[in-house]
Amino acid sequence: MTTADLSERAARAMDALDKLAPMRSEFLIPTVSSALGREGDASPCVYLTGNSLGLQPQGVRDAMERELEDWARFAVEGHLHARDPWLPYHESLRGPLSRLVGAMEHEVVAMNTLTVNLHLLMLSFYRPTPERHLIVIEDTAFPSDSYAVASQASLRGFGPESVVRLRPREGEATLRTGDIIDTIQSLGSKVALVMLGGVNYLTGQWFEMEAITKAAHGAGAACGWDLAHAAGNVPVRLHDWNADFAVWCSYKYLNGGPGAVAGAFVHDRHVRNSALPQLAGWWGNDPSTRFRMGPDFSPVASADRFAMSNPPIFSLCPVKVSLSLFDRVGIDTLRRKSLALTGYLEHLLRARVPSVGITTPADPSQRGCQLSLRLPGDPRRSLDALKRAGVVCDFREPDIIRAAPTPMYNSFHDCWRFVDALASVTA
Ligand SMILES: Cc1ncc(COP(=O)(O)O)c(C=O)c1O
Repeated sequence: MTTADLSERAARAMDALDKLAPMRSEFLIPTVSSALGREGDASPCVYLTGNSLGLQPQGVRDAMERELEDWARFAVEGHLHARDPWLPYHESLRGPLSRLVGAMEHEVVAMNTLTVNLHLLMLSFYRPTPERHLIVIEDTAFPSDSYAVASQASLRGFGPESVVRLRPREGEATLRTGDIIDTIQSLGSKVALVMLGGVNYLTGQWFEMEAITKAAHGAGAACGWDLAHAAGNVPVRLHDWNADFAVWCSYKYLNGGPGAVAGAFVHDRHVRNSALPQLAGWWGNDPSTRFRMGPDFSPVASADRFAMSNPPIFSLCPVKVSLSLFDRVGIDTLRRKSLALTGYLEHLLRARVPSVGITTPADPSQRGCQLSLRLPGDPRRSLDALKRAGVVCDFREPDIIRAAPTPMYNSFHDCWRFVDALASVTA
């Protein structure tokens, strides 16, 4: 069976050969009735929105109940005597997080939410001067990122002209790496920070993070990454690529649940720098002196130094369960399946619905699992029709439908069902 075969049978055959197929049973997949309100249809929906909110891992309910029981049983003693004591609880996420984003364990921390982490780290890494104050982002950056960079500039006394937005060439949907690097180089000593989404939320473009980080450093700027759409989707190597910092959320590909606690990376060379300016809270203090309750902040030499408060166990718990699944499979194995799955989806789309435009780069090394689609006609009506067919994907202004088959739980048959539905919708 080859991917040239467009039949449903071929999709099923690929699932039968897929070594990761059993991972699907680790997740709760909504039925068509519950997710889409089509009464009486208990079959699983086609869920292609793991890039927005990932599915619930089966193990989460028991793990959450365990924490609730321990709270009831031990109350304050749970900090030391819960089955997973709460005092060091967040430390157990470091290993799996570091393996996901290519970091050393002490370079990552689970804390807060993405935009909060972005602000905290920009306070340390965006150090504008009258000569060097520009922040470079994508024109299609997620709105929260646009607000965050503009408000950081304004907080330091700079206007909107401090934010440089990278735009694709006329008639092109995505950015060329050479153009990004040229812009950074031509702005040179005026650039204070380059801050892009590792994978752009709208186009699905995976930027050449290492080359861009190098260009930012070459211009004397810091480089930070928003990995909301990259973490758990594509293999990144933050330490080796020399990023200064990165932030990500855990509710998309990381399946940590709505509003789940986010992650942050700060490079080893910075976490050990005692002169690095930062906002401080007691959980960032060296644990060996934290409970002496002194007035002076002594930052721990890890990304934990940016942690403000004691960690939210009920928010960390689902993330911990989900990360154990990533550890079981490994991001490189997931990526291998992802390349096959998204490649198959693209192949089906081009063969069966050629009227659909794909704005995501065709080069697999320039994208993760998501394909961003431009449909003929009204995309909202198409989305409704897809829902009626049992398919969940999403719409982003102005005209993009995003479909993200995640290798952790989506099947080749999901892709087939989606394209089959789309073919009817656009017929
Ligand atoms: C690329 C990107 N950046 C930032 C955010 C905002 O995340 P949060 O609400 O956790 O701050 C999102 C949320 O979807 C996102 O997709």
